[in-house]
Amino acid sequence: MNNFTYHIPTKIHFGKGKISHLCELKESGNKVLLVYGGGSIKREGIYDKAIEILNENGLEVFEISGVEPNPRIETVRRGVDLCKKENIDMVLAIGGGSSIDCAKVIAAGAKYDGDAWDLVLKPKLIEGALPIYSVLTLAATGSEMDTFAVISDLTKNEKWGTFSAYMLPKMSVMDPEYTFSVPAKQTAAGTADIMSHTLENYFTNVKEGFMQARFCEGILKTLVYYGPIALRQPDNYEARANLMWASSFAINGLLKLGSEVTWCVHPMEHELSAFYDITHGEGLAILTPFWMEFALNEDTAYKFAEYGRNVFGVAEADDMKAAKKAIECTRAFFKEMGLPATLKEVGIDDTYFAEMAAKAVKRAKGSFVPLTEEDMIAIYKAAL
Ligand code: NZQ
Ligand code: ZN
Repeated sequence: MNNFTYHIPTKIHFGKGKISHLCELKESGNKVLLVYGGGSIKREGIYDKAIEILNENGLEVFEISGVEPNPRIETVRRGVDLCKKENIDMVLAIGGGSSIDCAKVIAAGAKYDGDAWDLVLKPKLIEGALPIYSVLTLAATGSEMDTFAVISDLTKNEKWGTFSAYMLPKMSVMDPEYTFSVPAKQTAAGTADIMSHTLENYFTNVKEGFMQARFCEGILKTLVYYGPIALRQPDNYEARANLMWASSFAINGLLKLGSEVTWCVHPMEHELSAFYDITHGEGLAILTPFWMEFALNEDTAYKFAEYGRNVFGVAEADDMKAAKKAIECTRAFFKEMGLPATLKEVGIDDTYFAEMAAKAVKRAKGSFVPLTEEDMIAIYKAAL
């Protein structure tokens, strides 16, 4: 196992009614910028509850609403301008990953003199941020407890992830009941996203991370067990609670400790979203089994076999056979969740494959099995 340092200072308040902890925002000042999406938080009464608590605690509330799924830089810029104009003290996101990511870059942009897009392209330019708080309403990205934010400039077909320790939320509220209203499509896409975060960490060439691999398998088994239950029974508390907690731990750094990982399916998916504005988790569900087939060979079969045996209970002694079954199980799981299996199903053809691969390869070449631009094009083509 390689050396590491682990420090995740995000305070989590998990469970029913934990939104009451929004009173803690007053530790960061008086003026809060509330960032949210297209209205789900108003329909579900979360907005009213949050405003009531903020008002009771003497906080002055400013708002940026209408954050898009695949949040746009234009919305970030609106938020940054408001923060600077009103001397905002802190940012509170209520929603899924898009609202939280948007809030993170607003918070960083408020402390930066240039254009916020610089911070998306060059994470090193992030040298501070306003305190960030979140109330999570969708189990998927793990943004509630990680350093990342993903922002798009669709005028240029660009979608990039940026990161900084300054963008770790100071506190996140995670009430599983808030996810009862998440529609089936987003429940499935969120589950696929958590699965992909876990797999990107699981497939590493550092073989000594025994415990990390078991953590990954625990999360994967949780998703395989509770994902379908949450689809069938949207208000099943245990299912929603387990998916929610899995979302945080798949990407908060724990799984990659002591190993070396360079994500590759994610950068390839971000190009699909950048060109076609598709749902992130759906793109991942399509690409993952094709990446697995590409990455499977005599040297890697052992790892896919381990995954199949420990997550899906594949009872097959031969590694290559077990590996192939594991990939079949992955496909079958995504199908059971109602996720698309090919790019055609989400309206994507081969028009931009070369352009997408040229961009994706700049961010991540993959470490378990290194990928060239041509390899990425081959995976996109297979997924058609
Ligand atoms: O906008 P509203 O009205 O809130 O509706 C949203 C949106 O339409 C809806 N929704 C959220 N909570 C709901 C709800 N509907 C009913 N009830 C609720 N409780 O769901 C839709 C999708 O929301 P969004 O926030 O876009 O989804 P998600 O959490 O999957 O975030 C996706 C974004 O995060 C990025 C993705 O690329 C994408 O841009 N990612 C962020 C990461 C990170 N910060 O670490 C890592 C990920 O790999 C990912 O790239
Ligand atoms: Zn993701």
